[in-house]
This record gives sequence, structure tokens and C-alpha cells, in this order.
Amino acid sequence: MNTEDRMIEANESENRRALIRQMFKRMKQYNVSALEIKGRQIRVSKDHWVTDFASCNYLGYDLDPSIKVNVDEEIARWGVHPSWCRLVASPQIYADLEDRLAKLVGTESTLILPTVTLISIGIIPALIGKTGVMFLDKSGHETMYEGCKIARDSGATLKSFKQGDFETLEKLLIEHKDNPRKMILVDGVYSMTGDYADIKSLQALAKKYDAILYIDDAHGFGVVGENPDENCPFGYKGNGIVKYAGCDYENILYVGGCSKAYSSLAAFIACSKKMKTFLQAFATPYDLSGPCPTASLATLWKGLDVNEERGDAYRKKLWDLTHRGINGLRQLGFEVVNTSGFPIVSVKIGDTEKLIETANFMFDAGMMATICPYPMVIKGEEVHRLTFTAANSSEDVTKLLDTFAQMKKML
Ligand SMILES: Cc1ncc(COP(=O)(O)O)c(C=O)c1O
Repeated sequence: MNTEDRMIEANESENRRALIRQMFKRMKQYNVSALEIKGRQIRVSKDHWVTDFASCNYLGYDLDPSIKVNVDEEIARWGVHPSWCRLVASPQIYADLEDRLAKLVGTESTLILPTVTLISIGIIPALIGKTGVMFLDKSGHETMYEGCKIARDSGATLKSFKQGDFETLEKLLIEHKDNPRKMILVDGVYSMTGDYADIKSLQALAKKYDAILYIDDAHGFGVVGENPDENCPFGYKGNGIVKYAGCDYENILYVGGCSKAYSSLAAFIACSKKMKTFLQAFATPYDLSGPCPTASLATLWKGLDVNEERGDAYRKKLWDLTHRGINGLRQLGFEVVNTSGFPIVSVKIGDTEKLIETANFMFDAGMMATICPYPMVIKGEEVHRLTFTAANSSEDVTKLLDTFAQMKKML
């Protein structure tokens, strides 16, 4: 055994993720190579096509011809990749995008970095310092936890609470009330269940105990927005979970992701101008990491145009497709984890062996989903996660339901 083998083996014996690696050998749905893409149909081998229910391009911007057109123009203007770290220089399109995003979500300013992950690992430690305290929602995204761990390594305190358990959260806030640096961290829309965080209650607690509420809205931005009603239950404009909840931004740091609904490698933190200058100096990804590729800035810019022109129509279509999918799966007798109607629809299988068997069956039947074994989820809660997009068709949903009907017989 050489050094590399020993290192891999030592990690496998102590890390729960070993199971995922073992599944590589048995799972047709992992590490798939897309050889050709036609809408949401993907060719994965010589003549096998699968329908994509694993995409998080919720608005279908990845395929929108009017968005693709803009990319060439911007590359001609800025080159393919600016390559400066943001502290040194940024193409003007950054500042223009930051203004547009601030207007859309309703904050004084925004700061763009390439991913939500970079924002979390850069900004949480920058704000918490060596002696602050973090109250992390246990169902929050793992990348937020990574940011918290970096802060904890510097001496900060990390506490956690169960999603929605505001009694425990309040007790923790009281316990640490004298700490001047307190941060509550939640997902805006939870990545496995599509649940919405109760922003109103969380903001009230943040204000009462002088804490900052940090919201990772990687999934919500672009899909949920202001003034939800019967006609558009996701709300309008796709301006995020805070607007959906009808709240302002007092005591809130809102993080929007663009790699899902906006199909762009970009993310932003919405904040005051003063906070922005603080983060420009204190958050390491601003000066030690590379910027977004030009193509992503261009698709985000054009995506914002398309959002103004027809985003609400896409969101309506997305709601209808998702609604049909959820109802159809429930009628077939599946346990579907979704209370919000958000296009993240997890179907409970609840056992690793059955998960592998049904995933392979689905793939052979021409269906691609995100397969979530333990430890991505709790043991016994294994799911196939289906994500719907406005680029899926009604025929895709019919095929999905037919496949699950056959799967039900098999189970
Ligand atoms: C809730 C949540 N936060 C953060 C991320 C990471 O986002 P990014 O790709 O922008 O780093 C994801 C990705 O799936 C996510 O689901």
C-alpha cells in the first residue's frame, strides 16, 4: 500500500462519506457524462436518453436562446475571464450587476463573489471573529457549516438548533446575550425539502437579541418573491425569501445564489454600503480568490432582463409543473417530502439497497434524478430528489409519473 492508498483508507474508515464512494460502482446515476443535450433530454450513451429532473436551472435560463446570444458580446468586451482578484479591479459589468441586484432585492447594495460557498466560508468568519457566537440551523446547508467551522477554529462558539425550534434558539440567544457578535444561520429555502424558513419569526428574534440573521437563499433567489397570491404562489419578481415573507432587511444579511435559477456561476450578499466596504476588506475571497467568468456575468445580466420581461410567466409554469408532479406522485402512493410547492420534490425510499435498485431502474427507464443516500440524509430517510424547471415539459412530467408507477409495482 502506498502513501496515497493509506491516506484514502484512513479517511474511508473514519468518514461516513465512504458509502457514497462505494455506491459509485453500483449506481448508474452517478458521474454521468452528458454527451448531447436537447432541452431537458440528455444523451448519456450511444442511444440512451434520459429526461432531466436533476437540474436546478429552475427558470430554464441555461437553454434560453436570448441569454446565450449575450455571452459572445460580453466576452468580446472583457475577454473570457478577468482574472484579477476583485480587490485589484473588476470589469464595470460587476458594479452594474451589483446595482441591479440591490434594486431587485431591495437593499442599499450587494457584493458579488463566484459562489454561495465562497461567501459562506469568507463572510461568516470575517464577521464572527475570534469570540463571536453562531447559532446554526441543523438543516442548513453543509457549506454554511463549513464557514462556521472556520470561525470555530479561530476560537468562536458554534451552537445549533433544529429547523423551526425557536424555543431552543431563544434560550441560546439569552445564554449568549452579552456577546456583541451573534449570528443566526438558516437556509432561505431548504435544499432537501423545499421548506421555507420562517423569516418573520427569525428576524423578530434577531432584532430582540441584537443578532444578525444570515440567510443562504441559494435556491430561493429567482424562484420565490414578493406578494405571493393564488395566481402566482411563488410570489412575483423572484426577489427572494425575505421579500416573499414581506420583511425588510433590518438585522438580515441575505445571500442570493445565481448558479441555480440564473444558471450563472455567481452569488451575492445583499447588505448596506457600510457592510460592503467592511466585507471588501475583511472577507478573504474578495482579495485571495478569482472572480466569476465573463460568461456567467453576461448570463446573469441577460437573465435579469428576461426576469423582468417574462420571469413571472416562467414561475407560473414552474408552479403548475411541480404541483402536477407532487400530486401525481402522492396519488401513486409515494411519500413526497414537500409542503411548500417549491420545485424540490423528495420522494422517500428509506433504505440504501432499495435506493440503488430504484435509481438504476429509473435511469434505465430514461429518467435522471438526484439520488440522496445516507449520509447526505439521515439513515432511513433516503430519497430520490426531483427538481423541476420551467424548461421541463408537461410530457416530461407524464413520463416521470409513468416511470414512478412502474417503480411502485417493482417495490
Ligand atoms: C442551500 C445551498 N446553499 C449553498 C449551495 C452552494 O451553492 P454554490 O454552488 O453557489 O456554492 C447549495 C448548492 O447546492 C445549496 O443547496
